Amino acid sequence: MKKGLFVTVEGPDGAGKTTQMARLADYLRCRGSRVITTREPGGTPAGEAIRAILLSPDMALGERAELLLYLAARAEHVRTVVRPALEAGHIVLCDRFCDSTLVYQSMVRGLPLETVQATNDFATGGLGPDLTFLFDADPVLLQARMGKRGGQDRMEQEGLAFQQAVRSGFLTLAARFPARIVTLDAGRGEDEVFLAMTAAWEAFLAQKKEVESE
Ligand SMILES: Nc1ncnc2c1ncn2[C@@H]1O[C@H](COP(=O)(O)OP(=O)(O)OP(=O)(O)O)[C@@H](O)[C@H]1O
Ligand SMILES: [Mg+2]
Repeated sequence: MKKGLFVTVEGPDGAGKTTQMARLADYLRCRGSRVITTREPGGTPAGEAIRAILLSPDMALGERAELLLYLAARAEHVRTVVRPALEAGHIVLCDRFCDSTLVYQSMVRGLPLETVQATNDFATGGLGPDLTFLFDADPVLLQARMGKRGGQDRMEQEGLAFQQAVRSGFLTLAARFPARIVTLDAGRGEDEVFLAMTAAWEAFLAQKKEVESE
């Protein structure tokens, strides 16, 4: 039985997901929570090997193969890392999860949404996040940030139109799941984004306590 909390961070490349997730992990640990941080694709030895294929700039992949590789990595990740940690009562912070799959593989690459949802549910056994932080910002601003970082992976090589489609895909999901997805303006400074994220976290906890005491 699941006792912990599953929190995902989502959004386009360069939006600050990894930066803010590390800060949230510190924040939660300082408050006494047991936290594990992980990422997709990856998080397991098989998952990291699959990640290397998926992000390799030289690897041509059709969208069906791409979907199945992401989901193979996810199945292993959920089975061996996420579910056991949740059952042990940890807070699991995961850098990208099912929303990225819905956005990139369906809304952007064009695979049917029902197929992506059904295969995702097969991979996860129906496990989904309790809370998701969506880091949203103008792709032009994010490209400037990424430019400073150097070297691009296979997804980052796609052009601005692709990044705009990604942004609008995530915003569509946020509108569809307003109770789960908290959208943060990631165009602001790192500290401001962090403050907004922790305020949303505290609001989420307060609401959860209220529901549990009813
Ligand atoms: N709010 C911010 N303002 C300016 N720069 C930022 C901000 N947040 C993060 N950065 C910087 O932008 C770059 C991208 O941040 P980060 O790696 O956290 O993004 P990401 O969403 O994890 O990207 P990716 O999807 O490629 O892993 C880093 O160099 C980071 O230091
Ligand atoms: Mg990252």
